[in-house]
This record gives sequence, structure tokens and C-alpha cells, in this order.
Amino acid sequence: MRIGLIGGTGREGKGLALRWAKAGHRVSIGSRDEQRARDRAVELSQAGFGPIEGGSNEAILATSEIALLSVPYGAHGATLRGLRDALQGRILIDITVPLAPPAFAEVHLPAGQSAALEAQEILGAGVSVVAAMHHVSSAHLADPTRAIEADVLVVADDLKARETVMRLIQDLGLNPLDAGPLRNSIALESLTPVLLHLTKRYGSSGAGVRFTNLTPKPKA
Ligand SMILES: NC(=O)c1ccc[n+]([C@@H]2O[C@H](COP(=O)([O-])OP(=O)(O)OC[C@H]3O[C@@H](n4cnc5c(N)ncnc54)[C@H](OP(=O)(O)O)[C@@H]3O)[C@@H](O)[C@H]2O)c1
Repeated sequence: MRIGLIGGTGREGKGLALRWAKAGHRVSIGSRDEQRARDRAVELSQAGFGPIEGGSNEAILATSEIALLSVPYGAHGATLRGLRDALQGRILIDITVPLAPPAFAEVHLPAGQSAALEAQEILGAGVSVVAAMHHVSSAHLADPTRAIEADVLVVADDLKARETVMRLIQDLGLNPLDAGPLRNSIALESLTPVLLHLTKRYGSSGAGVRFTNLTPKPKA
């Protein structure tokens, strides 16, 4: 698929771009600064996992079927308002955790209850917001040859969009789990500060999540 990463020049963007390129997807990295995105795309393409393109956040959306938002929560609302028109008709994967620095290890509920619910409110019904990837450390994602044993909870109100994103998450080498409607993003986003606390408390390179006693449901 053609995937555009808004804010793809950052920490999460690196691993997502490399892993999706490795899986055969056509990935474009977006930035507020077109040249920064182009330079980063050249650098990541040199890793040899597949060609990666770069451009302004707006420009990459024109050629993307799926968009992923990867900016800090402080820039979340303004970025989405600026790209509202360019995002219409697309699936938006929102990986934002609404942290309130410097209290990174404490739950912060934003005014709209979750970043993903705020995104859906800003973008309207013409965009299917899917929230996921809140519990995977960018440090783990960054090396596409590294196996990550982690579940990824995926929530959305649009069932087809939820399934499409679950397949894309599988392509990243992760285990997607259907975690229900977009409203459940409140719980997903709230778990990340707990993981950040665990990471610090137990000296981990990035705590993740694994669920037990789930059996695959046979297809109807
Ligand atoms: N890092 C993790 O391990 C992790 C894990 C799970 C979820 N997340 C979530 O993923 C998102 C991205 O995390 P990250 O660590 O990749 O972030 P990051 O590296 O700090 O920033 C990502 C990109 O956001 C853009 N950006 C920064 N400030 C901005 C602003 N004021 N307005 C518009 N764009 C701005 C920058 O791109 P340009 O300057 O090129 O425009 C930057 O490269 C966050 O919401 C975070 O909560 C992160």
C-alpha cells in the first residue's frame, strides 16, 4: 500500500518507514520542512530495505492511501487542522500519546478524552481514524531485523479500516489485536505512561504488552 508518515522524520517514523518498506509497501516521509523529509528519505533508503520518498506533510498525502500521524501531542491538533482537507477519504492511523511533559510517567487525559477521539472530531466523518502502536518503543522498531514480541492493540469505529491497519501492523512484524471501538483509545493511550514508569523502574529498553489466554477466532 502507499503509506504517508506525517512527522515521519522523527523517532517512530524511522522504524515504521524501514519496516513497511521491507514488507514491500511504498512509504513516504512527511515533514514541515520538505528538504528535511527528502534528506531523511535518502538516508533511510540507503539502509537497503526498499525505496523511501520524502516531501512536505501535505504533498505526501496526495500520493498516500493510508496516513499515519507521528508528531508530539503538543502539535497534534494544529497539525490535523492544517491537513484536514488533504486527509479526507483516507484512513488515518493515530499513534499519539497525550503526554504532559515533564510528567511522562503519569496519565494525562486531554480535553477530548483521547488524542484519537480529538482527531476524529477535528477531521470529521470523511476520515477513518484508527488508533494503534502506543505501546511499541521507537528504539525497538528502529532496527527492522530485530524481532519484537509484542501485541499491538488496534481500535477504530470503522471495522474495515481496523482490519486494514491490523494487516499493516502484521507487516511491521508485530501481533495486532482487535481492541474494539475508537473510544477504547482512552485506555490504550493511558497505558503508555504506565509502560514508561515500568521501563524506568525495571531498567528495561522499553516495556511492551503481551496478552494471555486469547485464542484465534475462526473466520466465519
Ligand atoms: N517514541 C516512542 O517510542 C513512541 C511510542 C509510541 C507512541 N509514540 C507517539 O508517537 C508520536 C511521535 O513520537 P516520536 O517519538 O516519533 O516524536 P518526535 O521524534 O519527537 O517527533 C516526530 C516529528 O514530529 C514533528 N514535529 C515536532 N514538533 C512539531 C510541531 N510543533 N508541529 C508539527 N510537527 C512537529 C517533527 O517533524 P518535522 O520537524 O520534520 O516536521 C518530528 O520529527 C508521539 O505522539 C508519541 O506520543 C511514540
